[in-house]
Amino acid sequence: MAQRRRSDALPCLWLLLLLLSLVLTTGLPRGGAVGLMKLPFSPGDVLPILPRQVAWPVMNTLHSAVDLLPSFVAAVAPGDLSPAAWNGSCFAVNEAALELTPGDRNGTDIGGAVLRLKTASAQSWTCMDLYVFATPYRITWDYYFAAREHTLEISSWEEAAELEYVKQHGISVFLMPSGMLGTLLSLIDVLPLFSNTGWGQYSNLAFLEKHMGATFEKRSQPWVANIRKEDIQSGDFLALSKIRGRWGGFETLEKWVTGAFAGHTAVCLKDEKGDLWVAESGFENEKGEEVIAIVPWDEWWEMALKDGSNPQIALLPLHPDIRSTFNESAAWEFARSMVGKPYGYHNMIFSWIDTIGDNYPPPLDANLVMAVMSMWTRLQPLYAANMWNEALNKRLGTEGLDLHGIIVETERRGMSFDQLLTIPEQDEWVYSDGKSTTCVSFILAMYKEAGVFAPFTESIQVTEFTIRDAYMLKIFQNDQARLPSWCQTEADKPTFCQILGEYKMELPEYNTIEPYAKMNENCPSLPPTYKRPSRC
Ligand SMILES: *[C@@H]1O[C@H](CO)[C@@H](O)[C@H](O)[C@H]1NC(C)=O
Ligand SMILES: *[C@@H]1O[C@H](CO)[C@@H](O)[C@H](O)[C@H]1NC(C)=O
Ligand SMILES: *[C@@H]1O[C@H](CO)[C@@H](O)[C@H](O)[C@H]1NC(C)=O
Repeated sequence: MAQRRRSDALPCLWLLLLLLSLVLTTGLPRGGAVGLMKLPFSPGDVLPILPRQVAWPVMNTLHSAVDLLPSFVAAVAPGDLSPAAWNGSCFAVNEAALELTPGDRNGTDIGGAVLRLKTASAQSWTCMDLYVFATPYRITWDYYFAAREHTLEISSWEEAAELEYVKQHGISVFLMPSGMLGTLLSLIDVLPLFSNTGWGQYSNLAFLEKHMGATFEKRSQPWVANIRKEDIQSGDFLALSKIRGRWGGFETLEKWVTGAFAGHTAVCLKDEKGDLWVAESGFENEKGEEVIAIVPWDEWWEMALKDGSNPQIALLPLHPDIRSTFNESAAWEFARSMVGKPYGYHNMIFSWIDTIGDNYPPPLDANLVMAVMSMWTRLQPLYAANMWNEALNKRLGTEGLDLHGIIVETERRGMSFDQLLTIPEQDEWVYSDGKSTTCVSFILAMYKEAGVFAPFTESIQVTEFTIRDAYMLKIFQNDQARLPSWCQTEADKPTFCQILGEYKMELPEYNTIEPYAKMNENCPSLPPTYKRPSRC
């Protein structure tokens, strides 16, 4: 990827500017003459190479928040008759064309592309343009100082769906506010998390080891358990941890922010005939939308085995006492009533941001959140509208404003975007697509219906639970001897069954906290220890 050579380029530039400023301050005649000379660079030119902590405040004072939004300049598709053209902030004349590169014939590789971008007519000789190139599957960036042809190589598409997307919609090109460079540079640690390669997987493991103290101990073979479906019952919990590709990267960040050692969840259900099903919020349908679905176990398991994000999966069987009172028909009734509803994005994004509060771990900050939201709006307009625009409107008490309108309104009220984001979610807010549930709040809402939280059913708010809070609940099997025989566990190891994966899953504090009234309504969660006060 393009960002690897950055570290050598920057110090040189620093040096150049340092020299320039020396020349300027020592070589100029004292008093008055400065105004007559044309400065060789404008303050805006220097922004990109300032460290982020310095660049943002400077930018914030130079511009209004709306000017900090990335601007969409072009969508470059392979079949375009003429190159896409636009005006940059440094280079006035730019054009780009995309050429697909073929994969190999036996279909192991679906090919990639080369984007050729020409820059010309610079406003000044020190300026630069900073671009982000994005599809819903990847995001990469580059910046250009020189007026010439540049190439951006995409060695391989993530999956066939990305190639299809690019053929139809092209790669979106965003011109970034120049001060973003510092932010993007500090993202170097984070971007590889999303790469669907061995390198991407390594980055995820390294990130989790470094920031959460996770250990990734290799398991002995077999990595796939020989499951007897008869041994699995309604209500048994599935904890998944993906470590590769788009979902791997996303889960890694979610784990880090919430302290959970799993990034996704699903739940088992048995019907009257004894057939096994999996109910899941976050199931990807044919249209590529994340929805709530109930699928036959065999189908779900087959998808898990083929999943390119290399999932590690654990089955957490319910405790026999809980199981004996589990109201299966109420669970089914709830699950069926939710089928087809969208995954709870509003909920998820904001439960994260509440967690981060006014203390974003670097490199996250409100400006970056805003930039990502604005790019996402362009890439997936329908999703974005209900993902955050609606939620942000609710926070302002407005209706139907788009992101641009929201930022203008926020400023008008003398509030920062940062402050807007931290206004907490209210349970009674209902979005246009109904109540939203994330993967884990869907399961816990089902548990609630099935009586798992009795006698505290009425005083448990499931939207307050993270995945970590869910597996810490003391509702699971705690007797090693009563786990199914195909369940590979070891003495003095937690009593859950890992059913898939090359690394041992750890779920610290698994099965330790009995449900109580108003559970988790007041819990901090700060890396790296995520200490949880009792009864918070
Ligand atoms: C950009 O600006 C230049 C003049 O500065 C103009 O000639 C050109 O047509 C503009 N548009 C594009 C797409 O380059
Ligand atoms: C088929 O794939 C193998 C490796 O997966 C590769 O070595 C070989 O060159 C490919 N053959 C063709 C015709 O592309
Ligand atoms: C189980 O749930 C169903 C549907 O909600 C309800 O009609 C039934 O009375 C419940 N059974 C028990 C034992 O609580």
